[in-house]
Amino acid sequence: MERTFVAIKPDGVKRGLIGKIIERFENKSYKIVALKLMNVTPEIAAKHYEEHYGKPFYDKLIKFITMGPIVAMAVEGKNVIKGVRHLVGKTNPDEADDGSIRADFSSYSTTNLVHASDCPESAQRELNLYFDEKEICNNYKNMFEIVLDELGEK
Ligand code: PPS
Repeated sequence: MERTFVAIKPDGVKRGLIGKIIERFENKSYKIVALKLMNVTPEIAAKHYEEHYGKPFYDKLIKFITMGPIVAMAVEGKNVIKGVRHLVGKTNPDEADDGSIRADFSSYSTTNLVHASDCPESAQRELNLYFDEKEICNNYKNMFEIVLDELGEK
């Protein structure tokens, strides 16, 4: 099953939106297999966003992700990388689809609430950056998996 890395950024944590954001992923059938509230050090932030080094928004991006705790998550499910990006919406909330997290909860590209990996390579790299393998808990089935099991579907 595919896995992705998702972070609720400091604005989402400070605004008390952790539950509402996680609910979107759980509603869609995705399974949280790791989750922690943590501070992002400048070193982790630099590794996370290394591909954006030199871009006009880079310094703001680093300042923002290190300004308060984030909720880091490993999320599992069918086509979860693309699916989570769709639920999160485009970078600029003005361009995000109606019903996406960014369209519903933000008006600014800077404070856009959630990070989600954009491809399998980024997902693996970001999961390795934020989690040890032993922190991943894949020893349970969510309700979607239980029903699919009953139907004999994988
Ligand atoms: S790019 O250039 O297309 O790769 O950029 P994009 O994927 O849209 O954004 C990369 C990350 O930078 C954040 N971003 C910004 N932060 C602050 N200010 C501005 N203007 C800005 N524009 C983009 C954007 O949210 C992405 O971070 P993550 O954490 O992946 O959402």
